[in-house]
Amino acid sequence: MKTKTYDSYFLMTVADVPDYIKAKVDFFTEDEQLSVDEIGDGNVNYIFQVRGKHKSVIIKQAGDATRLDPTWQLTTERGRIEADYLAMQEKLNPGSTPELYLYDLVMCAIIMEELSGDYAILRFALLERRRFPRFADMFSTYLVNALVLTSDIVLDHQEKKLLAKQFINPQMCDIFEKLNNTEPFIDVYKRNRVMSENKDFVQAEFYEDVAFRLEGAKLKFEFMNNAQALIHADLHTGAVFVREDSIKIFDTEFAFFGPMGVDPGNFTAHIFFAWANADAEAVQDVSILSFKQWLLETIENFFALFIKKFKNLFRERVTDLMAKTPGFSEWYLGTVLSEAAGACGLELARRTIGLSYLPDLINIQDEARRARTERIMLRLAKDLILNRASIKSGTDYTAALKRATATEEAESDEATYLDYVFL
Ligand SMILES: Nc1ncnc2c1ncn2[C@@H]1O[C@H](COP(=O)(O)OP(=O)(O)O)[C@@H](O)[C@H]1O
Ligand SMILES: [Mg+2]
Repeated sequence: MKTKTYDSYFLMTVADVPDYIKAKVDFFTEDEQLSVDEIGDGNVNYIFQVRGKHKSVIIKQAGDATRLDPTWQLTTERGRIEADYLAMQEKLNPGSTPELYLYDLVMCAIIMEELSGDYAILRFALLERRRFPRFADMFSTYLVNALVLTSDIVLDHQEKKLLAKQFINPQMCDIFEKLNNTEPFIDVYKRNRVMSENKDFVQAEFYEDVAFRLEGAKLKFEFMNNAQALIHADLHTGAVFVREDSIKIFDTEFAFFGPMGVDPGNFTAHIFFAWANADAEAVQDVSILSFKQWLLETIENFFALFIKKFKNLFRERVTDLMAKTPGFSEWYLGTVLSEAAGACGLELARRTIGLSYLPDLINIQDEARRARTERIMLRLAKDLILNRASIKSGTDYTAALKRATATEEAESDEATYLDYVFL
């Protein structure tokens, strides 16, 4: 069969993939039998797993509309941004992303290393209560390099502006600005999904609290206007492959130059969701209690290491003359940490009441427990957003969770939950 030239975009099906991959990369022999599966679990992209005799690859092709609704158009340019972010991290954090074999600008397809074997997606590993003692160390190194080394602290300012231009990502930012920065406060598209038990709570605490909404408005304009560093912007436990001694960050199509705090804060929300899932499951089970404890220690260790490594890298790599002024790095890091607390609160809120639900919450079978857990996450979200100026360490986060749990217990009618042990 004659090989196609692939000089204009079309959306591939499984049947197209063997010819395509052989035309594009020298990975398989011409006559090799390939098995192809489409394994995408998201709403917008097509993920082809291609297996030959000895090797395998992943192709991620960006569709030009969402899979749910063909009239909801999305630019395939996000595929180029995803590939550019992976290429950038290969320089800043070698080995911390799937290896990029090729980005096909016409077909908007990324051909990359398949992560399999002993790598697991962190979200599912945490739902199985698996622990990764080195995670906080590996993840803090990744983020500090990714953020500091793409900021004006280090880069030539003209070079950085041109880089920011390369990562202008209006449609994906628009999704974030709606889901994270608007809909927790105003259900403007009527697509939030609130458990019936929590409708009054969300109405009073989120939709009708104008002082709270004001803080949301400030965070929204910070997100839109602070082109501080190259951020992933959709960094959660489903975007990290993990094993004992390694992490691989992926799904980078939301990347753009935004506030540094977004990545650490957004991610931390998902450690809290792993905690919430464990908390709702079995309160008195010793292994669950110690797993929950490990999650909170991970948050504390992560921020301690992030702060230490951030200061070190700032000192070693700062180039801007004004940024060398005594006191500046402490002030700068302080703003990043506050922004992180805000981003964590926004993500906690939108993943609890917004459009995109998480298995961490929806898999909680007991409705009353799930409603209680969701209220704890919402109380925590609000606390972090309102008090973000004073959230400067991991222990500030875990103290906020303690407050949220204590308030829930004090205000809840559910006496059966009063004997919950906090860990
Ligand atoms: N490099 C990879 N190796 C192995 N599996 C992958 C790889 N990239 C994606 N996947 C699988 O495909 C799923 C969807 O990928 P993702 O990049 O999150 O797509 P989307 O942006 O459409 O959600 C992942 O959850 C994972 O199971
Ligand atoms: Mg994605």
